[in-house]
This record gives sequence, C-alpha cells and structure tokens, in this order.
Amino acid sequence: MEKQQKSSHVVLVMVSFQGHITPMLQLASILHSKGFSITIVHTEFNSPNPSNHPEFTFISIPDKLTESHFSDKDAASPVWNLNKNCAAPLQQCLEKILHSLHHIAAVIYDTLMYSAQTITEDLGLLGIVLRTGSATTMLFYPAFSQLDEERIDFVYEIKSPELQALQLKRLRALLSQNATKAMTEVRVAFANVLKRSSAIIVNSMEFLELEALSKVKQYFPAPIITIGPLHKFAPAICSSLLTEDDKCISWLNKQAPKSVIYVSFGSIANIDKQELIEIAWGLSNMKQPFLWVVRPGMVRGSEWIESLPNGFEESVGERGCIVKWAPQKEVLAHAAVGGFWTHCGWNSTIESICEGVPMLCRPFFGDQHLNTSSICNVWKIGLELQNLERGNIERTIKRLMVDMEGNGIRKRAIDLKEKAAFYLMEEGSTSRSLNKLIKHILSV
Ligand code: UDX
Repeated sequence: MEKQQKSSHVVLVMVSFQGHITPMLQLASILHSKGFSITIVHTEFNSPNPSNHPEFTFISIPDKLTESHFSDKDAASPVWNLNKNCAAPLQQCLEKILHSLHHIAAVIYDTLMYSAQTITEDLGLLGIVLRTGSATTMLFYPAFSQLDEERIDFVYEIKSPELQALQLKRLRALLSQNATKAMTEVRVAFANVLKRSSAIIVNSMEFLELEALSKVKQYFPAPIITIGPLHKFAPAICSSLLTEDDKCISWLNKQAPKSVIYVSFGSIANIDKQELIEIAWGLSNMKQPFLWVVRPGMVRGSEWIESLPNGFEESVGERGCIVKWAPQKEVLAHAAVGGFWTHCGWNSTIESICEGVPMLCRPFFGDQHLNTSSICNVWKIGLELQNLERGNIERTIKRLMVDMEGNGIRKRAIDLKEKAAFYLMEEGSTSRSLNKLIKHILSV
C-alpha cells in the first residue's frame, strides 16, 4: 500500500500566466481523479489560490521577477529570467520533496519552465513536458533551433495541402523579425526540452492537427500524448486570476440567438488608446450587440476604459456590455453568441472550436499568428482582421456573422464542434490518451 502511494505522487511545475495556469490545473485535476497525489510548484508572481484546490499541495518558489521584466517590449524576457532565477530554487524544492517522499513518479513541467528538464534529469526523475499551445507550433522548433541548422528545411519540404495552407515560411519570417537574443535562446531551449523529455503532453485533439502531428512525430522522439481539450475533459475548476463578472450572462440572456460578437484578447495582449478608439467605433457602427472584455491595464497608459471616445456610450446604449473579465467558457457556450473576436491564444481557440463559434482573428504575438493561420486557412472557421480601422472592423464582423459569405465559415465551425463532441464521446479516444499517460508515469 505504502509503495503504491509513493509511486503515485506527481509534481507539476506551473508557470503562472493565465493561459498556462488553467491547462496545468486541469491536468492536475484529471490525474488526481485517477488516484495520483499532486504537488504543484509555482512561481511567486500570479500565485494561484490554494484554497480553491484543497486537494493539491502548493509550493511557491522565488522568481525575482519585477514589473520591468513584463513592461519590456521583448516577450521572451520574463520567460528567460524566470528560468534563470527559478532553476536553483526549483532544484532545492524537488530535492526536498524527494527527501520527504522518497519517490516521485513524474515531474510534469510547462515548456516555458524549460530549466526543469535538466534538473529532473540530474535527479534521475521522469520528466514530462506539457505543451499548452497547439501541436502545430512544434513544427517551428526544428527550424528555430540553432542546434539543428541542418534540419532547417525540415518543415518547408512539406507537401500536404493542410500544412502548405499554414504558410509556415511566411510565418517563420514574421516570427524571426527582430528576434532578440533572449527570444533566440528561449526558442532553442524549447526545442531541446521537447527533444529530451520522456513524453510530450499536448492540449489538443488528434483529428484537429493530424498532418502536423505526423510530421512532428518524425522529429521529436518522445511519445506525444494528445490529451485535449483539457477544459472538456477535466472536472470544472476555478483557475481565473481575475474575478469573472457574471453580469454579462444576464445581459446575454436578453440577446437574440447568435447575434452577439464576443471580444476578448486573452490575459496578456495590450492595445494603445488609438486602437481602443477604433475598436469602440467599429463595434458601435456595426449595430450588432457585443460583449467586450477590457482587462484593467489592458489599454496602455489607462487604468481601464476611461479613454473610450465621447459619445460612444450614448451611441451604444444597452447594445454593448463591457466587463473586466468574463466567464469565457460559459460565454462561448451561450446561444446568443454568434462570433468571437479573439487574439487566438490556444486556449481561446480550442474553447471556441468546442462551441462551434466562428472567429474573427487579430493575433498579437508568438503562436497566435500560427493559430490564426490554422483557423482561417486550414479549418476555415474564421476571418483574419487585417487592420484595426473602424470601417474595416465593421465590415469584417458583418462578413463573419451576417453576410452570405460567412455561411460556409459558420457551417464549418458547427461541423468542427460536432466532430470535437464525437471525439470526446467516442468510446476510448480520450481515455486511451489518459491511459497512455498513466502507463508512462508508472513506467519507472
Ligand atoms: C497565452 C498566450 O498569449 C497564448 O498565445 C498562448 O497560446 C497561451 O498563453 P492568453 O493570452 O492568456 O495565453 O490566451 P489564451 O490561451 O486564449 O488563454 C486565455 C484563458 O483565459 C482562456 O482559458 C479563457 O477562457 C480565459 N479567459 C479569457 C476568461 O476566462 N475570461 C476572459 O474574460 C478572458
């Protein structure tokens, strides 16, 4: 009995960004429901609330991150500093856990905390990486990794129409523009961690990224376990860093079916005051109801929405609802929602797919460009918003939600939702993945 308990302890190393906290906690809940005891090691900033998850043990490690790391224009800077600052405390923390429990079945770490891989290896522990983005993003790593210069054409020799539709060459050029030293180092580290971990867990569905997965499997030797969509598969949990404003649900209840465009740019992206003004007039002029999430501090130089233009509120009246943070999964599942203007973070993308909501895509950075390409060119369930000008916003939302042109997009979004529902219901598809993971964890 004691042996069983010892071997069923899993440590999860979490990176405290919203889009990473949620899938890690969902995975923890799934493993806990299968009898594993769980310790979550997390950074001090954006620390999760342990009282929401009394079933887990939480340990915080110092990260020494300051505001300046986040205000930095270089998106890789917090990740680079996080790994530099957390490596020693993480090692001490794992040694301590090992000392008291004598055995850890596996350490599951977020790709962003790549330093965990070497530490785990040095301690003789089983290291598994959780990839919170799409499987398709992994196609870039052979090309980005300086260590694999000879494989640089690996992804561009791809002949399948699905992968050609992704326009990887164009995206790679886009992502390479102004790549800083930290960005380059972080990408090499991501490629290495994916190559050297004993398994790769991906929050996705096999059928959604079939071609990309088959290509990626040729490059990364570790088994790739597609265990998504985690939000449908895991028990409901509370993982929001901000308080969800439920008043938007009573507002949605008063709107006509499929009439509302839901607008949210996730937990990190920022806009400037002029962009806020263009979005505001675009939403006002299109005459459809809208639900708009504006996080406090999301508009550079503003506390919240004080930079909204004069006359906006009067022109919109009850047709618009603005909140600081919404219960997004509930919003996307609501009958009144007919479109989602998104930054195309992976969680938002997969949540929208599962509810059959067509997307208006306005990517900001990183994987969001690739997700946009998958949404618009591969699955064809969205339109890209090319520029943030009010007239263009008004026209593109109409094309997506109202015009005949959007019929095909809306139909394909529903078809994909049905496929996802079938995949989830289908005897064995998700439990097969979970069993594969459990078998892997207990293999050492
Ligand atoms: C970050 C990166 O920006 C993204 O590119 C990467 O794929 C994951 O990490 P984030 O910007 O937060 O993520 O976007 P996303 O992945 O979409 O995650 C946002 C999460 O917050 C979603 O689970 C969404 O449901 C939730 N959310 C968002 C809310 O619950 N309420 C809101 O009002 C807005």
